[in-house]
Amino acid sequence: MDLTTAPFFSKEWQHFLDEVLPPFVKSRFSPDPRWANKPFSQEDVAFFSKGLIELSDFFTEDRRSAKLPNYFSTPKARSSYLLYFLPIHAAKFITLFQKTPLAMEALIRTGKKNGLIRIADFGAGPGTASIALLFHLFDFFKKEKKIPFKIEFTWVDRNEKVLDDGEALLAKIIEAYPQFNGEISLLTEARDWWNHEQSEAQTDSPFDLSLFGNVLNEGSHDRNHYAKGLPPLLESLGAAGILFLEPAFKSASQRLSQIRNEMMPHPLYGPCLHQQACPLSEGRDWCHMSVKAVLPGTFFKKFSIRLGGVREWLKFSYLWVAPKTAQIPKTHAVRVVSDPIRGPEGLRNQICQPEKVGWINTPRSKIFRGALWTIKPGHIYERSEKPDARKKHHSGLQPKNEKTGSRARVRGVRFKARVR
Ligand SMILES: C[S@@+](CC[C@H](N)C(=O)[O-])C[C@H]1O[C@@H](n2cnc3c(N)ncnc32)[C@H](O)[C@@H]1O
Repeated sequence: MDLTTAPFFSKEWQHFLDEVLPPFVKSRFSPDPRWANKPFSQEDVAFFSKGLIELSDFFTEDRRSAKLPNYFSTPKARSSYLLYFLPIHAAKFITLFQKTPLAMEALIRTGKKNGLIRIADFGAGPGTASIALLFHLFDFFKKEKKIPFKIEFTWVDRNEKVLDDGEALLAKIIEAYPQFNGEISLLTEARDWWNHEQSEAQTDSPFDLSLFGNVLNEGSHDRNHYAKGLPPLLESLGAAGILFLEPAFKSASQRLSQIRNEMMPHPLYGPCLHQQACPLSEGRDWCHMSVKAVLPGTFFKKFSIRLGGVREWLKFSYLWVAPKTAQIPKTHAVRVVSDPIRGPEGLRNQICQPEKVGWINTPRSKIFRGALWTIKPGHIYERSEKPDARKKHHSGLQPKNEKTGSRARVRGVRFKARVR
């Protein structure tokens, strides 16, 4: 699916962001109980912004440090997260749910067949990804006014407090939207995502969908954690597979590409359209998406302005692994992985192809990062053939594998996946 068009946000989602989430945060986190049940106001925006600015600094890659090692231990950080980062991260998940119908259809088919879907949310925080899924499904079944199967969530996070917040928020959602009532169950597990031995979730059937939201880029990048944590999930993929969503940073994105390379050949729901080596798993460039979006939420907008301006872009990297049995239709299209880049020969876009990126002349009606493009024969230019203006400023432009002609080397994340 093309990843450049704006996502759609349902009325219920807008209602949640304006009428349910801010009062929930206020009643749970107000330092003075007399304020707790008063309407959320401009004063609350000022109050909760203080933690938001600190947290936003922390989430900027180059400032990530030991500054706020266990940032969810303070109510200040957790309340800011709920008010600002939950809406943004959920919007990214909603975007991917909308743009990946094959995965969602597989999930819904399973739900209709079994009367139940089992969803794991690793590094769940306050349940962001699961809550996004709930609203997505509710919108999908809006004519029926009810999701026609049960949903069993397992949320895993090393921070117990944020899981408690999420559990209370989920209870609030069920109270505010009676159509969810009786259909949802939640198991929370305060543990590392990779330590499945500590899990109490039912293990005899796979999760139908596993969600990882902005968690792999946190904490230790110890290879042993990946080696321990990923294979059990990859060996028993449910119908909708595993969705890893990470920030648009280079390190986070290349880590996903490395995980992907370890598994290939293997079907993917996105963003890749081929099953050979990722051309962007190392080197100067990386695969990430920028989707223009009009984000709902009156208070969310006010918080955005406090942080420097209205948010217009959803930026992220992702990898959606499908089960071996998934029927991914063959395509002649390629994924565009850059916006137009000006060089001596005019505007060009980078495109994803096995091993190394290619280049195409930007068409008259410009195309952007995330678009799908059908290549005419002879219209791809290899990177080495492209007189790129930026070469002047960067030596060693060619990735190592171009020199050797070998498969892309997989660095960093290593695990042995025996994928069925
Ligand atoms: C940026 S938050 C993301 C929360 C939520 N998934 C989202 O997208 O909004 C990262 C979460 O991962 C959790 N986390 C970090 N390292 C973890 C680990 N090794 N195991 C489990 N949870 C972890 C943190 O406690 C935090 O709740």
